[in-house]
Amino acid sequence: MTNLVERGLASLGRLMAIFQARPDIDDRDVREPPLTAIRGEIEFRNLSFAYNGKPVLKDVTLRIPAGKTVAIVGATGAGKSTLASLIPRLYDSPDGTLFLDGVPIRQIPLATLRHAIGYVPQETFLFSETVAENIRFGKPEANGTEVERAAEISNILPDIHGFPSGFDTRVGERGLTLSGGQKQRTAISRAVIRDPRILILDDALSSVDTYTEEKILGHLSEVMAGRTTILISHRISTIRHADEVVVLDDGTIAERGTHAELLSRAGLYADLYQRQLIEEDLEKA
Ligand SMILES: Nc1ncnc2c1ncn2[C@@H]1O[C@H](COP(=O)(O)OP(=O)(O)OP(=O)(O)O)[C@@H](O)[C@H]1O
Ligand SMILES: [Mg+2]
Repeated sequence: MTNLVERGLASLGRLMAIFQARPDIDDRDVREPPLTAIRGEIEFRNLSFAYNGKPVLKDVTLRIPAGKTVAIVGATGAGKSTLASLIPRLYDSPDGTLFLDGVPIRQIPLATLRHAIGYVPQETFLFSETVAENIRFGKPEANGTEVERAAEISNILPDIHGFPSGFDTRVGERGLTLSGGQKQRTAISRAVIRDPRILILDDALSSVDTYTEEKILGHLSEVMAGRTTILISHRISTIRHADEVVVLDDGTIAERGTHAELLSRAGLYADLYQRQLIEEDLEKA
């Protein structure tokens, strides 16, 4: 018995350390009265950001009006994911560099902020649960129709109908193993079911074919009409429909404009475009 109690106490000590941990990112700077509804205008003002002293973003200034779709492109390691992750405050940006609807981001309650954002990270994560539960994770109170609608938008619905128990099929470690593209589309369903003011897709279409991608983007442009969308992608096919394209190079904005404007400028974006055309030709050959 003594043994059991001792072991129990040791475990309890470790648990308490977790329960009592205070997150670095919290609501300490929220101003009264707090902002409760977000329109979706995002502004980076001379933002520089470093991970433990290692600079990653340098003097980024970018205003994304509410309701617009902006694509972010750039070489691997350019800082695209870092830039996107500052919006839901996965990391905190320096004071006075990031504003939502004109309000410094740390003055907005974290719950309000994150509630307004649908975020599909580059590394999708699915739980060892059913497909429906994985989608509903984005909105626990969602009903069956909403789950189905979200699955339809991300074009995973036909796949789900083919699974052994449909929406009730278990996925992950203890269930069906999904393909990379199926995982990505499940993650997109999880984000869109929240009906977000701001949708961030970090390379979230990289594992689906261009035909499926076209379909998903078509659905998204309907449901995201009037809402802000940030598309991070390496693929021109994903990017070309954005209102504006921002090219990041080594943490700074190298070029920006519409697809057509950037093509005529014969810079980094035009290079990327040419290279992808050649790759496509090679694939066809
Ligand atoms: N959590 C982190 N801690 C420390 N350094 C990081 C972290 N995340 C990214 N970095 C570094 O920051 C830089 C930018 O990374 P980031 O993931 O933003 O690039 P990216 O443009 O999204 O690249 P990719 O196209 O490969 O996704 C890289 O040099 C990377 O090593
Ligand atoms: Mg990335």
